[in-house]
Amino acid sequence: MARESGRTWRVRQLGFEAVIELLPWTDGDLWVVERCLSDADMMEHLGGPQSREQILDAHRRYLAAGGKGTGQMFKVVRAPLSEVIGTIGYWDKTWQDELVYETGWMIFPEYQGRGLASDAVAVLVAHVRRDHMRRFLHAFPSIANAPSNGICRKSGFTNLGECEFEYPAGHPMRCNDWCIDLRLAPSEPRGRQQ
Ligand SMILES: CC(C)(COP(=O)(O)OP(=O)(O)OC[C@H]1O[C@@H](n2cnc3c(N)ncnc32)[C@H](O)[C@@H]1OP(=O)(O)O)[C@@H](O)C(=O)NCCC(=O)NCCS
Repeated sequence: MARESGRTWRVRQLGFEAVIELLPWTDGDLWVVERCLSDADMMEHLGGPQSREQILDAHRRYLAAGGKGTGQMFKVVRAPLSEVIGTIGYWDKTWQDELVYETGWMIFPEYQGRGLASDAVAVLVAHVRRDHMRRFLHAFPSIANAPSNGICRKSGFTNLGECEFEYPAGHPMRCNDWCIDLRLAPSEPRGRQQ
């Protein structure tokens, strides 16, 4: 169960508190995005490692996202030692002529396989559900990205089918279009119900 507290968001797991916190992106977080976007393994399903210019551009976008009021990038932190373990966020995207939220996540390799990305997604979805500026939250993992598709499946997203997606600019990918209707309570069926 996720709950919000000030500028951080915590997930409660098996009675333990504060497993995961999402902290808004700051100027000092360049190293986090640099580590993620320059790592060949982490970028396997995301078009390959990015250049220094692309990484600096991503950092600027992450910083600006919070100022617009319609999105936010976070570093994912594991309590109680406050280890930074990855990134997650949501931002505006025009998708099929509609303004929706898009989300994406990355966890450093040494922390993968422990359910931590799933926890971070649970915290983010709970936060965005309360924020509620847009009706739909989408994620577009590559069809070959088994862990990410698994996270979507178990986090309450509905798979609307395969689609062509471009990430980064100029790099086409075959992705699944996963969606949550933020107006529905977590226990209700999700997806695009009018
Ligand atoms: C995708 C990513 C964030 C997953 O992080 P993680 O912390 O290992 O994820 P979790 O441990 O929460 O769980 C992933 C789920 O996928 C499953 N999974 C992992 N590897 C899998 C595989 N090869 N095939 C099928 N399922 C797999 C896990 O079993 C788990 O499901 P479960 O809890 O039901 O067992 C991480 O691999 C990553 O950062 N990858 C690089 C960046 C990336 O591709 N981001 C996604 C962009 S959309």
